[in-house]
Amino acid sequence: MSQPLCTFLFIIVLFVATFYTLHHPHTTPPLLFSQNSLTLHRLFLSSASNATISSYLRALTRHPHLAGTKPSSDTLHYVLNHFQNLGLNTHLTEYEPLLSYPTHISLTARFSNNNTKTLKFDLNDDVFSSPSSHVVTPYHAYSPSGSAHGNVVFVNHGEERDYRALELIGVNVRNCVVLARKGESLGRGEIVKLAESKGALGVLIYAENDGGGVGGIERGTVMRGIGDPTTPGWPGVVGGEKLRLEDDRVAKRFPKIPSLPLSLRNAEVILASLGGVRAPVEWRNSGRVGLGQRVGPGETVVNMTLQGELTMKKVHNVVVTIRGSEEPDRYVILGNHRDAWTYGAVDPNSGTSALLDIGRRFSLLLKSGWKPRRTILLCSWDAEEFGMIGSTEWVEDNLLNLGASAVAYLNVDCAVQGSGFFAGATPQLDGLILDVLKLVQDPDDVALTVEETFKSQNNIIERLSRVDSDFSGFLHHAGIPSLDMYYGADYPVYHTAFDSYEWMVRNADPLFHRHVAMAGIWGLLGIILADEPVLPFDYISYAEQLQAHRDALSKLLQGKASIDPLNMAIQEFSLVAKEAKEEATKLKEQAYNKNDVVAAAKRRELNNRMMLAERGFLDSEGIKGKEWFKHLVYGPAAEPESKLGFFPGIADAIATNSSKGIVQHEIWRVARAIQRACKALKGGFT
Ligand SMILES: *[C@@H]1O[C@H](CO)[C@@H](O)[C@H](O)[C@H]1NC(C)=O
Ligand SMILES: *[C@@H]1O[C@H](CO)[C@@H](O)[C@H](O)[C@H]1NC(C)=O
Ligand SMILES: *[C@@H]1O[C@H](CO)[C@@H](O)[C@H](O)[C@H]1NC(C)=O
Repeated sequence: MSQPLCTFLFIIVLFVATFYTLHHPHTTPPLLFSQNSLTLHRLFLSSASNATISSYLRALTRHPHLAGTKPSSDTLHYVLNHFQNLGLNTHLTEYEPLLSYPTHISLTARFSNNNTKTLKFDLNDDVFSSPSSHVVTPYHAYSPSGSAHGNVVFVNHGEERDYRALELIGVNVRNCVVLARKGESLGRGEIVKLAESKGALGVLIYAENDGGGVGGIERGTVMRGIGDPTTPGWPGVVGGEKLRLEDDRVAKRFPKIPSLPLSLRNAEVILASLGGVRAPVEWRNSGRVGLGQRVGPGETVVNMTLQGELTMKKVHNVVVTIRGSEEPDRYVILGNHRDAWTYGAVDPNSGTSALLDIGRRFSLLLKSGWKPRRTILLCSWDAEEFGMIGSTEWVEDNLLNLGASAVAYLNVDCAVQGSGFFAGATPQLDGLILDVLKLVQDPDDVALTVEETFKSQNNIIERLSRVDSDFSGFLHHAGIPSLDMYYGADYPVYHTAFDSYEWMVRNADPLFHRHVAMAGIWGLLGIILADEPVLPFDYISYAEQLQAHRDALSKLLQGKASIDPLNMAIQEFSLVAKEAKEEATKLKEQAYNKNDVVAAAKRRELNNRMMLAERGFLDSEGIKGKEWFKHLVYGPAAEPESKLGFFPGIADAIATNSSKGIVQHEIWRVARAIQRACKALKGGFT
């Protein structure tokens, strides 16, 4: 290192140290990280700038940038130029998936109570209905073109139990158009799928939380599964094999009946007109559904018509590579998607602006002499809104290399949607997350760290069984330890034309301090995972989580199948996790010397085992009915009714009242997956 650079660094460090003590009175450095790295962490944290992040968000959200459209290529170039101008090694990966856009949509209703009065609904978000705004008409991507004409039946959240409740009061939805309000357990694709299986002709879905009365309409995809529908299981590269639309493997990804999103206001006009029997008691007086609500079918008839086009479009991921100095073939991957339904200020560009700022600050660190031990990738995904397409194609494109060399995937989609820190992760990352939260100042209370508020408010790290952002391919298909983070639990303008920069400033982060906190947490996690000689993974935490999952399962089973296979596998996993932890502690205690090749080999060997253990939970057969999803501990259950939230194969077997033998077989499969993880963590051969 040159003399002037040293002096420069020293001054920065002094400045940072002063700043840090003044502003972080409660911060006690955790023991996890080696002492010299603290300087680097402080330098990273102190180079944050809320004004810079806000300017990135402003630029990213100037116009709507739906994947595959012309304006989305402006956003792409903004991101690409940003990283290139920082001198970071940046490249594009291109895929050509099948995307879906609306060409014509109409909805009319004829009400009983006014004889033949017909109402034609306006199908745009209220203030954005002018055609010059370029916001896409609210629609459901991959909904089939066609008309549905029929009596309306209100089906509450459109869950299995809602149809059972309707059956009890003698209501059948066959040949009707169902009206559903989005609830918590079913996504829009699942609502449509279930309605289809009940014989409905079409589906109207509305959200009760519509942006505080502004009249937003929630766009979204209704495709089943994730990734390009014409290249299931392989990358949709330009010029590669594509299945034809008539192929069963493609057709089964799309609903057979049309669906449309509806504003709350329009939904309430229809609800108010419904005759027929009274809604089941549990539905009434919940949310905005009143006591007098009837479910139909009365005489209200709707005619919904949509024409859409399915078309191949080029999409682009941006990948920045910061090459590791000592273990360049080990990868820590930070990812966020770039495409948006509308302006995308929350979803996803709050995350994109954080990623751009991390790029800026990493380039500063690199200029100050930082050399990450492992390689860091910063990824900006395309076409996430259509079904995680950009990231899924990339995972399929790089599956073997990811399996052999990816240490962790750190996802941020909606970085900021409100207040309070939330995280989901695979359990070996829990401790690391909490340690990093101790280093970052709470954006809403300067006297506290994020960890202190997190512990007092939320304190739960969720598990990643949901399939709603780009971590899905990494975790559920490739078995890579993953995490997903956001500020704020929920927000009213989700997927509407109101998800704009102005909304962000007015409602979710006026001074961009939450953005700063998220960029700080995300970047530090990246630095630590890239730099720590011994990976900061804790498999004891994983073992404890598996025990808790087993206990919850046991309660649900009530003796209907034996959990002995799980008991044995988890017991052994706990033992091996304990040994790995002791080994890690010993290796960390040794003075770190880059030239000690024996110690380096030992560390790398343990790191490999800790990296590969997560892959053990993958099963080549995957989850029954959703075979692309290979992870048997975390993944989507087709039947969310069991409410397990883990062991998706077992959950489905229970929810569908499968025979004892089938449930038992699913239990055995999970037990074997745990044993595979266990063997990977232990190393060697039987
Ligand atoms: C019936 O039609 C009249 C005139 O168009 C309108 O003012 C009234 O609100 C309608 N009533 C209902 C219940 O829709
Ligand atoms: C439904 O609406 C479409 C489009 O406006 C129209 O072409 C069709 O005839 C209507 N169907 C019925 C049964 O009214
Ligand atoms: C950044 O934070 C400072 C201090 O809270 C505040 O005065 C300023 O307005 C913020 N800048 C932006 C762009 O929000």
